[in-house]
Amino acid sequence: MKRILITGATGNVGSEVIRFLMETNTVNEIIAGVRNIDKARESFKNYPKLQLANFDFENQESFDIALAGIDTVFLLRPPHISDIETYFEPLINKIKEKNVTEIVFLSVQGAELSKVIPHNKIERLITESGCDYIFLRPSYFMQNLTTTLLKDIQTKRKIVLPAGKAKFNWIDIENIGEVCAILLNQFSDFKNQSIELTGTENEDFYSVADKINQNLNSNITFQNVSPFKFYSIKKNEGLNKGLIIVMIMLHFLPRFQKPPRISDFFERVIGKKPTTLSEFIKRERNIILGKLSV
Ligand SMILES: NC(=O)c1ccc[n+]([C@@H]2O[C@H](COP(=O)([O-])OP(=O)(O)OC[C@H]3O[C@@H](n4cnc5c(N)ncnc54)[C@H](OP(=O)(O)O)[C@@H]3O)[C@@H](O)[C@H]2O)c1
Repeated sequence: MKRILITGATGNVGSEVIRFLMETNTVNEIIAGVRNIDKARESFKNYPKLQLANFDFENQESFDIALAGIDTVFLLRPPHISDIETYFEPLINKIKEKNVTEIVFLSVQGAELSKVIPHNKIERLITESGCDYIFLRPSYFMQNLTTTLLKDIQTKRKIVLPAGKAKFNWIDIENIGEVCAILLNQFSDFKNQSIELTGTENEDFYSVADKINQNLNSNITFQNVSPFKFYSIKKNEGLNKGLIIVMIMLHFLPRFQKPPRISDFFERVIGKKPTTLSEFIKRERNIILGKLSV
């Protein structure tokens, strides 16, 4: 039996990782590393076997206790943390010092191609630490439609991005959680591998808007804007500057890149096809439509 610490446990991916570990009755001890234990206790009240520990990426004093007796860490980078030297270097050093030997890191597809993106820097720190690792590199989350892009969809009936006709590969976070649970439980089978995890569809935002409309009988459009226009729209809406820049990089740069590679990892390991966009849209119908009348 291993003791596994899950960081980012209350977020989109972390909560699915916890769900799959708990619902499959893992033999391992699972500890959710969270900033607010009371809030997490409420969120995870259906999982009595789940343990909670105080863990804050931005408070190094929390590392010692959270990592005590841990064998494996599920590590992710909260989206607002991009200063890797300040926050991740001390953490990886502490992981090593505490004899944690296994790290599953939630990276991003294409992380190996750019030395400037935070995930690339974190992957290098982990490799240099000598810990065994699995780098899971998922493609573009379908759940961006129900989180970061949702307000525009609900209030403007538009998806507004500087993405042009760039194609994104769309993956369901539920599929990521299911795979992570297997990687954590069967770490040695995948040790020291970098794994791309994708869905089966490469689609641009024009066709995603079409798919939403076909499935939900709605009238959502995709509005392509320049990066400057996007910056000014989002700044006026009060969005954090760093987050706007990340959104521009994430959606504008793929216009100059080849369409993403499609991986069959999910089907090989789980034995079923990943979620399609149409399945996701129908499943999340109520969230996507929100205040929209059909
Ligand atoms: N969006 C995409 O298409 C995409 C694709 C591939 C990879 N990724 C990567 O996926 C990662 C984001 O995953 P996600 O969507 O699951 O993130 P998320 O939903 O924003 O969740 C972030 C998690 O980190 C926790 N957290 C934030 N600051 C913390 C701190 N100082 N100390 C401890 N915990 C903290 C949050 O906890 P609280 O509840 O305390 O806030 C939350 O549990 C990013 O690294 C992103 O680059 C995203």
